[in-house]
Amino acid sequence: MATDGSAAGGPLQAPRGTRDVLWPESWRWQVVVARFAQLAERFGFGMVVTPVFEDVRVFRRGIGDDSEVVGKEMYEFTDRGGRHLALRPEGTASVVRAFVQHRPPLPFKAWYLAPAFRYERAAAGRYRQHHQLGVEALGVEDPELDVEVVVLAWELYRALGLRRVSLIINSMGCPRCRPAYLSALRAFLAARVERLCPEHQGRVERSPLRVLDCKTEACRAATADAPWLLDFLDEDCAAHFARVRQGLAEAEVPSRVEPRLVRGFDYYTRTTFEFAAEALEAAQNAVGGGGRYDGLVAELGGPPTPGIGFGIGLERVLLACDAEEVLPVAQAPTPNVFVVDLEGGGDATALVLDLRRAGLSVERAYGKRSLKAQLRQADRLGAAFAVLIGREERASGTATVRFLARAEQHQVPLGELRAFLLRHAGGDRPAPSAATTSSPGSAGGTAPAG
Ligand code: HAM
Repeated sequence: MATDGSAAGGPLQAPRGTRDVLWPESWRWQVVVARFAQLAERFGFGMVVTPVFEDVRVFRRGIGDDSEVVGKEMYEFTDRGGRHLALRPEGTASVVRAFVQHRPPLPFKAWYLAPAFRYERAAAGRYRQHHQLGVEALGVEDPELDVEVVVLAWELYRALGLRRVSLIINSMGCPRCRPAYLSALRAFLAARVERLCPEHQGRVERSPLRVLDCKTEACRAATADAPWLLDFLDEDCAAHFARVRQGLAEAEVPSRVEPRLVRGFDYYTRTTFEFAAEALEAAQNAVGGGGRYDGLVAELGGPPTPGIGFGIGLERVLLACDAEEVLPVAQAPTPNVFVVDLEGGGDATALVLDLRRAGLSVERAYGKRSLKAQLRQADRLGAAFAVLIGREERASGTATVRFLARAEQHQVPLGELRAFLLRHAGGDRPAPSAATTSSPGSAGGTAPAG
């Protein structure tokens, strides 16, 4: 049994290939997700959420039994009711299943943030649970949509400040032109079968395209002169591909045609693409990939409906940001206000709640700590103001507001406190009319000694 390093009796750890994301790293997740959501919505996509697990047939039929992801990496289980389920290894098949089930109006343009599970050999940038930001657009065959989808992914990398992301594209043809190509490829591979890696020697007949995807030196060398699908495209597929290339050029998105790019799922037709972060190790540098899947909706029981989309690996994008030194990890979150509780009891709680309801970000200390300790905490958190509240403040109907960045404090009537803080939360100097100004320590009895 795998122990994942949690020796018997030792502290339990996250399962191998998974990661905890704590603050401040999680701040970057929020930034990337928010930018993606904003971009996707600008491009006309709405958010969808699908279950983390599905009937296993969704992936078997959708992605293909023969693919690595389904054949070797899927987390499958039988639930207590005897249903055969799988944790989602990717987002596309789930979104298409949801489309077939609900039949929303076309075009259906969905974006998602989805955890995905693959039993991979865990390494830096290769996880057993990773997270994808993705889009799927159903119901449009027009190559203009292919261009838009690729550009959307590109805009995210640019918005994050990544400059060393490259794009490769290819076409997988369609069920009309692919059979002739597969025959030619099989014949080519059969003549060199002994030069292929042991795993792929047995797969020439069943899944010849997978051989092109193999990363071993043996398969790479043996297929250097293989016939390429691009030379077999029928007129429509060739015109579609030409327009996508031209559209990308017009959008000033540089791309390179890579005839070897077949991607790992059976559902792809026509346009396929992948983004690589040049700043990362080649084995884990794919920061996004996708393509068209014009037969998938029908495969999952819906009416023939074209589709296209991509998935972007959130963890990999952040690794690329590290490598390019963009989007640095933030400092701790900074509250606007730190409420110093001088007496204990409910006064501080009521004040904190009131200020939070007014829209301020407020932190406080708990458990009757000394004034000095509380002010130290306020400083450490980088709060703009400390608001001191205690018996004397209550009696005089005021609060003491201390500007932590400078030696200055004010007595502010409690009724004006919200407005005063909101006015100064942006970092302005206080207007003298709003309150009495003094310096800390000279507050004539209202500011308690430190
Ligand atoms: P995929 O290329 O398998 O495509 O995954 C998309 C992205 O997820 C990859 O480019 C990579 O950034 C990230 N990724 C994949 N596996 C891992 C892993 N083990 N650890 C970390 N990151 C990983 C798909 O999943 C398709 N559903 C994309 C698509 C959408 N095609 C059409 N629509």
